[in-house]
Amino acid sequence: MMEPETDKRLVAWVRQAAPYIHAFRGKTFVVAFGGGVLQEGNAQALIHDIALLDAMGIHLVLVHGARPQIDEEMTARGLSPRFHNGLRITDAATLECVKRTMGRMRIEIEALLSQGLPNTPMAGAFLRVTGGNFITARPVGIVDGVDLQHTGAVRHVIAEEICADLAQENVVLITPIGVSPSGEIFNLAWEDVAEAVAVAIRADKLVFLCDAPGITNKQGELLDALTADEGESLLSKKVKQCPDILRVLPGALRACRSGVGRVHFLDRKQDGAMLMEFFTREGVGTVMTSTPLARLREASIADVASILALIAPLAADGTLVKRDRERIEAEIAHFSVLEHDGIIIGCAALHPYSGEKAGELACLAVIPEYRRAGYGDQLRRHIETQARKMKFKQLFALTTRAAHWFVERGFVETEVASLPAAKRELYNFQRRSKVLVKGL
Ligand SMILES: CC(C)(COP(=O)(O)OP(=O)(O)OC[C@H]1O[C@@H](n2cnc3c(N)ncnc32)[C@H](O)[C@@H]1OP(=O)(O)O)[C@@H](O)C(=O)NCCC(=O)NCCS
Repeated sequence: MMEPETDKRLVAWVRQAAPYIHAFRGKTFVVAFGGGVLQEGNAQALIHDIALLDAMGIHLVLVHGARPQIDEEMTARGLSPRFHNGLRITDAATLECVKRTMGRMRIEIEALLSQGLPNTPMAGAFLRVTGGNFITARPVGIVDGVDLQHTGAVRHVIAEEICADLAQENVVLITPIGVSPSGEIFNLAWEDVAEAVAVAIRADKLVFLCDAPGITNKQGELLDALTADEGESLLSKKVKQCPDILRVLPGALRACRSGVGRVHFLDRKQDGAMLMEFFTREGVGTVMTSTPLARLREASIADVASILALIAPLAADGTLVKRDRERIEAEIAHFSVLEHDGIIIGCAALHPYSGEKAGELACLAVIPEYRRAGYGDQLRRHIETQARKMKFKQLFALTTRAAHWFVERGFVETEVASLPAAKRELYNFQRRSKVLVKGL
């Protein structure tokens, strides 16, 4: 028997994950990782998580690298790896090592994805893995006088074929090798391939598994989210980052600006990093978006359930007035919501009393995990702007617990008698809410 506390935590976790599970079904994620992942003994855990994402109906494209394995193969053959600007110089002998290593790694990854032993997270999983000549390449050529020979750059991604495979519920595994129309083989950088594929198939997420927990700021603190502009500024200011992050960041910025919804940077050594990043509100790594993550918008009828869920605990403890589904549905046009990564994290309503040129800022709430980040204020400012547009002269708020919050934002306490007549009639003397008002 499970401990009641464990039970509770499990149930809470599954419930918290539910909106994300619904939101991600049918979405496409490109997950990219270097060869190091397969060397460090945590490949099994990663594969289990990939199988779980697949089981949740997420379309997956995996892009793998093989740098350390190619180096090993070269050393075993008495060859010395050579690089220029972080790119391997692929001469004919190196290309042989690349082909051999890539082939072996592909087989190994396919084998890992094909496991299904009972009593493991892979039990009952069957992942069909496909791949193919999806990438055409061209030579990088001569850089600073150095001929990179068989090192290539992505020329074209055959997106239709990848998407067709995904539509068949296959996991697409891409090995960073490309061919030119003349039949020449090129060694590609996995991070470039991941970027090009994610852009070509318009992936919802591009995930880089890196040697660091994510992107850090000047103070070395992990950033949970940033915009592409902020990422670019960190790069241009040469803010210190781990080598993998520096390697993938330029491509991540381009992908983000070319329509890939979100780019995630996660620690490849952290067990379950993808699950925690995608299915918990807090996440564990860094997510980069082209525009700020939280989006304020008018609510629609589809948001009713989310608003109800958001305010239910606050109504239960008396912080907010109880509102049932019918009431929220009827008043939905008054609501604005803050959406973060597809999840509603805050709401507020503007109830108009047009005859008295007044409005009521009501049902203002932000979920606890996102408080103290200015979202409450963002909603308040939005409601004030709306009220001004409607030519209201006053904005009221009734609160039992947050009077100071409003006072610090220019509201003053007033009498029940100064409420608009219709509101005054409904005033609940048992709740004894404080009445606050702000001139607009
Ligand atoms: C009030 C509420 C919407 C603020 O949301 P938020 O996103 O945290 O707001 P902001 O980030 O803009 O402001 C945070 C600041 O307000 C302060 N604050 C939060 N709740 C407060 C309260 N009840 N009274 C006084 N100050 C409060 C915080 O301490 C923080 O200030 P600090 O960082 O200087 O300590 C949020 O706490 C909430 O949902 N509360 C429950 C519902 C509620 O009371 N709604 C108001 C009645 S309609």
